[in-house]
Amino acid sequence: MFQTAFLDLPPLAGIKGAVRLPGSKSISNRVLLLAALCQGRTVLHDLLASDDTRVMLHALRQLGCGVALEGARTVIDGIGGRTDRPRQADLFLGNAGTAMRPLAAALAVLGGDYTLHGVPRMHERPIGDLVDALLALGCDVRYTGQPGFPPLHIGEPKLRLGAPIAVRGDVSSQFLTALLMALPLAAQTRDIAIEVAGELISKPYIAITLHLLARFGVRVERDGWRRFVIPRGAAYRSPGEIHVEADASSASYFIAAGALSACVDGQKGLKIEGVGADSIQGDIRFIEAARTMGARIDSGPNWLQVRRGAWPLKAIDLDCNHIPDAAMTLAMMALYADGPSTLRNIASWRVKETDRIAAIAAQLRKLGAQVEEGADFIRIAPPASPAAWKAAAIRTYDDHRMAMCGSLAAFNPARLPVRIEDPRCVGKTFPDYFETLLAVAEPAAAVPVICIDGPTASGKGTLAGELARRLGYHCLDSGALYRATALAATRAALALDVSCETAIAELARTLPLDFAEGRIRLAGQDVTGALRAEEIGMAASAISTLPAVRRALLALQQGFARLPGLVADGRDMGTVVFPQARLKVFLTASVAERARRRREQLLARGIESKIEDLCADLAARDARDMNRASAPLMPAEDALPLDNSGQTIEQSVAQVLAWWQARQPF
Ligand code: C5P
Repeated sequence: MFQTAFLDLPPLAGIKGAVRLPGSKSISNRVLLLAALCQGRTVLHDLLASDDTRVMLHALRQLGCGVALEGARTVIDGIGGRTDRPRQADLFLGNAGTAMRPLAAALAVLGGDYTLHGVPRMHERPIGDLVDALLALGCDVRYTGQPGFPPLHIGEPKLRLGAPIAVRGDVSSQFLTALLMALPLAAQTRDIAIEVAGELISKPYIAITLHLLARFGVRVERDGWRRFVIPRGAAYRSPGEIHVEADASSASYFIAAGALSACVDGQKGLKIEGVGADSIQGDIRFIEAARTMGARIDSGPNWLQVRRGAWPLKAIDLDCNHIPDAAMTLAMMALYADGPSTLRNIASWRVKETDRIAAIAAQLRKLGAQVEEGADFIRIAPPASPAAWKAAAIRTYDDHRMAMCGSLAAFNPARLPVRIEDPRCVGKTFPDYFETLLAVAEPAAAVPVICIDGPTASGKGTLAGELARRLGYHCLDSGALYRATALAATRAALALDVSCETAIAELARTLPLDFAEGRIRLAGQDVTGALRAEEIGMAASAISTLPAVRRALLALQQGFARLPGLVADGRDMGTVVFPQARLKVFLTASVAERARRRREQLLARGIESKIEDLCADLAARDARDMNRASAPLMPAEDALPLDNSGQTIEQSVAQVLAWWQARQPF
């Protein structure tokens, strides 16, 4: 997940390959509880890993379920039919409404001695309508804090079955879902009817519940959306295995990107794995709207394949009430349409994570669109021409969907970058959204590169690493490539001079190097520590004078320029490896200061040294580096000099970030 203050997305040309999206939250917690209520084992595939599912898993363990996490598989051994299950538990449910409501109902029907509570915000979220329904049924549920809100205490029920159970449908559909999942536990001898009072909201979510109940062996009869009957003799039966669909709302961003994509991979476009057109999630109907706008979408069991069809996209005028979340994505697609689009019946946008109508209107205007908004609609006229697009910093209002929507502006025809402010807000539903997008996106122009060149011990590595962290960019420590080559050559017992130049160059070309999670691996072995050894530094210095070795490492280094950008450090980054880099810094420090820093580094490793010796050593090395025949140390013509002798790291970082910002269009 990007933890940066902002993320600058370079202009994107398209998207291709395959993505697998995280599981649907609504399906994940329902399936967990249903598996828990079954007898025997259920294997769940692709469960969403999120706060809400973690809370549910923890509670299920306390209730006596077997829970095993095995990569993408979650194995649940249910408590159904078990007389030895723990009948007492104190369950902390965080802020997970999808755990609190259904667990309260299921435990109230099963009976025991349970306390259910959560974070303070959870104790402000209403549950009274559900509790009323459970009390009418004969359950023993008591409020231990404020009436109408958690915490709850649950005891043994004296079930009174017969009369239909009434529940309100216009506050939260989760109350009905909770009853639908709990009541099959009590339907051994007679039918149980539930009657909904008021207009039922969020019907697609009830449809998910009914579908999953059927997968677990309980077929609920329904009369419209007002009356539901759980038939006598209903009992949960594990389906054995069940796949959690990928989140359909999350899929909308990739469907849109596929429709915008100029690069077609042999006409295949982008494959989205984990969700298909026959999904049980309401937001899947986004694909109908995307098709109307021009997207070409094929579908199979649990997959979608998307590519550009009509171009420009076709403007639409659509009632979006059935897809409130995914419709935001249509607002972004409207930027690429052949005329103004109108999205209607979206009043609920105003009461989501933020006022989404106002928020998206403001951001679309920044991008160059003309936007009209009303209480329950938005009308978007796209920028009149590529030249009318503007580079914008997209404000995200702590709303995951604003951030994900904003990324779709990166496909603009003007090839402008887009800044996403506070990108970490995607964590709510899709922590790795940007990583997933960038892994399949094709840049429309050269990937931005910042080069930090300079003499030995000037602090290049520290500065480059910190810049990369702040910008969310990749980092290339080119010295490590020379060191790794030197280590490989040493292990192969090659002479580190011109006599073995070809052989070392060949080693360098096919170096089985892997940089992941801050470690460096050579042929699978962690060599992070070994590369820092003094003798490997000397060996690197020796082989780095061999022109064939430098040439061999060139392509490898250039390959590090990947989305969203790169900070590269090393003596010839700005001159040879990335001559087109957007910003080049030549970092220096006085010999005395570099000697002082080196002495501290050595001391930290328990090695004593004399300042005078270090000074002499560095001066000699500078002279050698500047005068050597192959890749002598020198600043690129367009490099900005930065003497950091009197600066803290923070000051140097701030200076380079200021230079970088001055080159951005935001
Ligand atoms: O920066 P570091 O000390 O890890 O680099 C090891 C050696 O590799 C340096 O002494 C230098 O001779 C060589 N090198 C190079 N060109 C680079 C990076 C490092 O010649 N871009």
